Amino acid sequence: MRFIAESVSIILIFLHNSLQDCRSSAGFTTCSNEYLRRNSPIRINDYKNILEFKKTSLEEIPTGSFKLLPELTMLFISNSDVKYLEEGSFDGLYNLRKLSLYGNKLSIITNGVFRHCRKLETLDLGMNKIEEIQADSFNDLANLKDLNLGFNNLRTVPSSLNILSLRSLRILHLNNNQLETIQPNSFNNLNSLEILNLSDNKISSLSGNAFTGLITLLELNLGSNDLRSLDPQNLTQNLSRLKTIKLSINSFDCDRLRNIIEMFEKKGVKVAKGHSKSKDTINGIGCSKT
Ligand SMILES: *[C@@H]1O[C@H](CO)[C@@H](O)[C@H](O)[C@H]1NC(C)=O
Ligand SMILES: *[C@@H]1O[C@H](CO)[C@@H](O)[C@H](O)[C@H]1NC(C)=O
Ligand SMILES: *[C@@H]1O[C@H](CO)[C@@H](O)[C@H](O)[C@H]1NC(C)=O
Repeated sequence: MRFIAESVSIILIFLHNSLQDCRSSAGFTTCSNEYLRRNSPIRINDYKNILEFKKTSLEEIPTGSFKLLPELTMLFISNSDVKYLEEGSFDGLYNLRKLSLYGNKLSIITNGVFRHCRKLETLDLGMNKIEEIQADSFNDLANLKDLNLGFNNLRTVPSSLNILSLRSLRILHLNNNQLETIQPNSFNNLNSLEILNLSDNKISSLSGNAFTGLITLLELNLGSNDLRSLDPQNLTQNLSRLKTIKLSINSFDCDRLRNIIEMFEKKGVKVAKGHSKSKDTINGIGCSKT
């Protein structure tokens, strides 16, 4: 019995390895036709620091899938069919600096997914269907500098972003989501953020305290939203380093827009030129005359 069990498992291991199609060249390893099985961490002999999956149809990433590849510094699982991540999906990747899950089918990010990725600097979750990011999802990412959440289905700024652990975050992309408003203090703890991209949402109002805490912000993109008004005085009160703001493609009234631009320029904030072809424009930004 035992002998049979052992033989079967040897055959299974052999089968699993033979189904893998991973090749290493100069600096990286590429896998195709790969799939991941529960309780069967991927094994690659002589893998490189950079691992890329190509043309795969991975649907889920079971806990510990990569735990035998602790030297990985970059992992790319882009443009696949990943729907599910779970607590521990990236366990063991203590040296990972960059993770891309761009272009998958994720709808929720649950707590604990990135719990071992303490060195992560770049996380790309763009172009998915993310609606929810659980509150503690990013708690371990104290070295994260660049986070892409663009092209998803977020309706509010997730509270998981407003945590002290994200003290290294410099760049945050939330463009092309479904945001309608920015709640007060949404980014209160992002004290190193330099670029905030909120373009291509449905933002129609901003509370006075929408951007409190962003004391190092240099560039704010509010283009392609539904803003009719905003108060530069309130907005810039605590954004003392702000250099550029993008406002093109909104619903501004021309007189108000002229006034807004003047107020920003007085504060030393440059309002980026628009490229509107509409009849009425100010600074190249389309507006409507009342
Ligand atoms: C922000 O998102 C828009 C829309 O996708 C994009 O055109 C722009 O390059 C992004 N980056 C910045 C820094 O605004
Ligand atoms: C500006 O801020 C003050 C105090 O925080 C508030 O009373 C006022 O309504 C704000 N104005 C706008 C246009 O948001
Ligand atoms: C500016 O910062 C102060 C102190 O942190 C805070 O009380 C105030 O509400 C902030 N104002 C705005 C408009 O963000």
